[in-house]
Order: sequence, then C-alpha cells, then structure tokens
Amino acid sequence: MEKQLNELKQQAIGELALAASADKLNDLRVKYLGKKGSLTAVLRGLGSLTAEERPRIGQVVNEIRNELEQLIESKNSQLKQAELSARLASEKIDITLPGRKNRLGHKHPLTTTLDRIKATFMNLGFEIADGPEVEQDYYNFEALNLPKDHPARDMQDSFYITEEFLLRTHTSPVQVRTMQKSEPNQPIRIIAPGKVYRRDYDATHSPMFQQVEGLVIDRGISFSDLKGTLELFIHEMFGNNVGVRFRPSFFPFTEPSAEVDISCVICSGSGCRVCKGTGWLEILGSGMVHPRVLEMSNFDPQQVSGFAFGMGVERIAMLIYGIDDLRLFYDNDLRFLRQF
Ligand code: DAH
Repeated sequence: MEKQLNELKQQAIGELALAASADKLNDLRVKYLGKKGSLTAVLRGLGSLTAEERPRIGQVVNEIRNELEQLIESKNSQLKQAELSARLASEKIDITLPGRKNRLGHKHPLTTTLDRIKATFMNLGFEIADGPEVEQDYYNFEALNLPKDHPARDMQDSFYITEEFLLRTHTSPVQVRTMQKSEPNQPIRIIAPGKVYRRDYDATHSPMFQQVEGLVIDRGISFSDLKGTLELFIHEMFGNNVGVRFRPSFFPFTEPSAEVDISCVICSGSGCRVCKGTGWLEILGSGMVHPRVLEMSNFDPQQVSGFAFGMGVERIAMLIYGIDDLRLFYDNDLRFLRQF
C-alpha cells in the first residue's frame, strides 16, 4: 500500500513539474486532490485496512497531500511571476509622449469689470441687492412712475410673457422691491447688479445685457451727494485724469435727471470716431429719486430724499478695454477671451 502511494506521489510530482499554465495546474489539483481524485480515493479505501495499519497509512496519505498542496502553491506563484515578467518585457511605455497640458482659465472681462464696480461701491458702504429677471409690470414700470400707456415706456422695447409679466428691461425694479421690503423712511444704500433684457441687437446692444443699479435714501440727501459718489466711482474705474460731465436728461423715476459722460478714453477729449467728434462718452443715467416713486413705496418725500443711478456693465467694459463690438463678449471665441 505504501509503495503504491509513493508511486502515486512521484507520478504527481513529475506531472506538476511539466505543468506550464495555471489551467493545467488546476487540472492536476483536481486529478490528485479533488473530491474524486486519486489520493482521496485512497483515503476512502482506508476502511478495508486493519486497525493497526489504518492510522499509519492515513498519516502517509495526509503527508503526501500536504506536500502536493505546497508544490502546487509554489508552482502557481512561479507561473504568475513568469507571466508578469513576460508582459513587462513585451509592453513598453513611451516616455517621450508629451503630457496633456492643463490650461488654467481666467475671469471673463465682464466678470472682472463687474467685480471692480461692486468692490468700489462696497468700499463706500453699499450693500448688494437683487431681484427676479422675470418681473411684474408693476415693479418694472408702474411703481417707477411709468404708468400703462406712458410714452416713456417706448424707450425700453420689452419682452412680454403675459400682460403682467415681462423680462425686466432694467435693474430699477430692485429699487422698488428694496424700498417696499424696508421700514418706511429708513436709510438705504444699495447697488443691484444683474441681467436685463431688451429687443435690441447691434454692435452696441444685445437682447441680454447687464446693469448695475444704485439707490441711496436718507435724510438730507442732495444732488451734491450724487455728484460726489459718481465722480469718485468714475475716477476709481477710469483713473483720476478722466473728465466727468453731468448733462440734463429725463427719466420718469428721477427729478431732476442727469446723464453722466466721461471725457473720451480714446482721444482724451479732442474728438474722434468713438466719441463721434464730441470728446465725451455717455456712461450712465442718474437723478434724484422722484417724490412719486418714494410715495408709491411708502417713503415720505417730506422727510427723506435720495439719488439713483443705472449703468450698463458691457458699455463700461468696452470703454475700459477698448472693445468696439459688444457681441464679442458673448461669442465665446477663445481668440478674443485669451486677450484678457
Ligand atoms: N433704468 C435706466 C435705464 O435702464 C437707467 C437709470 C437712469 C437708472 C436713471 C436710474 C436712474 O436709477 O436714476 O435706462
């Protein structure tokens, strides 16, 4: 019996030595050690042996079993190692291939401009307010002293959604919303940046553009506060050498109203194509808040007064960077954007 077992063992060792793949190795494991394998069969046959022989033969079988298992294990890791070396030898990494460049983006010129506008007013103690872009006729027009059928509505060609709702044509409705949210006659000092919409499209107008509204209300606010604040803002944005001019104008929500011009940033005031020979460029609208506008939002014009202004962000960015077509801001052409 022992002799037979030893022959079986030698045969297994011989076959294992020849096994050249993991599959082959597994076949041999089944053949010798599996449930129906040769060695298992011997163990099953132990019952027919005498009581003295049984433990001894059992022990021999177990030893052979352990030895074969170890052999299979080490053969298995040998095969894996060989397979890995073969792959490493055939696969080559081309270290001369250039890497992919990670391009760092930067802010859009309109964002940079808006950031500067906001920072300037925040340094003067203004807070930021906002309102919806889909606005009610009441806030966009009516409460700003522009009743239905008022001819001044023609200045702002609008996108109506229903008769009562439209895309806001300016950021001025945020003035009304802010006043109506606050306690009557309490001081207000806000700017309201945001998108606005008009039916316009050419080199200096786009159906969507951005404005910054400003509103200051307190006791004793006068036109000189308006002038001082806007002059300071303009010098901060365009430099101290730029000239500032207030020109009488009309807005239904302010009285008196003024258009603000700066000396032409291209020709410094001598007259050129950009300023159409006038030496001046219009940059914003402003005025003293109309008493009717204060009253409609529960502020008492006998006790408080205020000034307001509104400017287009694109227009200011065009003047700062010397851009002659507003549509470039929204084309997303990298050749344009990379210049900033
Ligand atoms: N809302 C005006 C416009 O879009 C700009 C404006 C002018 C705003 C005068 C004001 C203001 O607050 O006082 O044309």
